[in-house]
Formats: sequence, C-alpha cells, structure tokens
Amino acid sequence: MSTHRRGAFIVIEGLDRAGKSTQHARLCQNLENHGHRVKRMKFPDRTTPIGKSIDAYLKGESQQEDHVIHLLFSANRWETAASIRTAIEEGTTVVIDRYYCSGIVYSAAKGRDDLSLKWAREPEVGLPRPDLCLFLDITPEAAAKRGGFGNEKYETSAMQKRVRELFYELMQLPDGQEIKVIDAGRGIEDVERDIMERVMRVMAQTKMTEGLESILPW
Ligand code: TMP
Ligand code: MG
Repeated sequence: MSTHRRGAFIVIEGLDRAGKSTQHARLCQNLENHGHRVKRMKFPDRTTPIGKSIDAYLKGESQQEDHVIHLLFSANRWETAASIRTAIEEGTTVVIDRYYCSGIVYSAAKGRDDLSLKWAREPEVGLPRPDLCLFLDITPEAAAKRGGFGNEKYETSAMQKRVRELFYELMQLPDGQEIKVIDAGRGIEDVERDIMERVMRVMAQTKMTEGLESILPW
C-alpha cells in the first residue's frame, strides 16, 4: 500500500459578510507557516470566459435564465476540477473560498418549483469532494451590523435568510458529513483558531493516504 500523502481539500463556505475572505487568507497563511504547500482558489472564478459572464450577471450588467446561470456556476467549477485533482495528488493542499454548497443553496433559494436542492445538486456530481467544508455561520442580524451588504445580485437580507435556512437543510442530507459549522459571529482570532484546529485534525487523518473522493449522487 502506498504511504504517499496527498494534499487536503478544504472548503470555506458561508453567507456574505461572514468573513470568508479574511479567514480563507489566514488559513492559507497558517498552513504555509506550518510548512504545507497551498493552492488558493475561489468560486466564482471571475477570470475565465464563463467567470466573466457570471461576474456580469452578479453585477446586474446582463440577464440570465435561472437554470442557465446555475449551470454556468457549475461549469465554472468543472473547468478547474482537473487542476484541483492534480494539485492534491502532488501533495498540495487546496483551500477554496466557496464551492458547490454555495452553488446549490443560492440557486435553490430563488424558490422555484423547478429548481430544487436536488435538481441544483445534479451538475455537481463527479466533482472532487472536499475532506472538510467549514460553514462560517452568522445570523442575518449580525451580518447586517458588519456594514450591510454590497449591491451584487444576491446581497439582500431576504435572500441571505433563505440561503442560511437551505445551508442547514443541506447539512441534514448526506453532504452534511463533511460540513462543520463555525460560529463566525466571534472575533477574527477566535474563528481563525477554531478553523485551524479543525483543519489540522482532518489533515492528521489516515484518509490522506487514500485518493480524493468524488461528489456522489443522492
Ligand atoms: P462571492 O461574493 O463570494 O464572489 O460570490 C458571489 C455570489 O455568487 C454570492 O452571492 C454567492 C453566489 N454564488 C452562487 O450563486 N453560486 C455559486 O456556485 C457560487 C460559487 C456563488
Ligand atoms: Mg460577495
């Protein structure tokens, strides 16, 4: 049996204003300080042609049918899936700011009968599955106190409230296994310490000598 240790695959999820970008940066830096090679990623990746369409949509510069934008978000993950697998196989730890959970809940939060959680999850089946998904949780009230929302498409309190409910619904389903809730309403350092502790615990597991799993169908 091979004793080669692959990199870990860590995702940071959460609502807008939960502090994802800050914690993503700190986690990556902390891992590097511990001697790990780290690949930083974020979705949507607005730099690719698909990402540029998503960016225009989020800024209100273009319209997209709800299923179409959903599939573009998913395609934006698929265009990097091979590079995630390669990095991890080479021993690099991949840390992503948002991934397929955001993809599912934001689309399902629109409340269409023909865009359920189940439907929204289908295009994600087969993507590399994270070892750990940290859900940075913050109440809509606490998020609002952090300076309010910006003016991108989904940054309204009604949408955020629904997204949070759906994150909790998703956690009751098989995907909940690797999702850990982090109370992001605390100070930056407390959240940072909590995240690092959980990441180190996952990285110490023997799972790292096995190949990366894929997102399975329900
Ligand atoms: P960002 O603020 O992290 O750049 O994300 C932009 C918005 O896109 C945010 O409101 C969440 C939303 N989103 C989706 O609707 N589907 C997705 O697949 C992803 C990654 C983000
Ligand atoms: Mg945002």
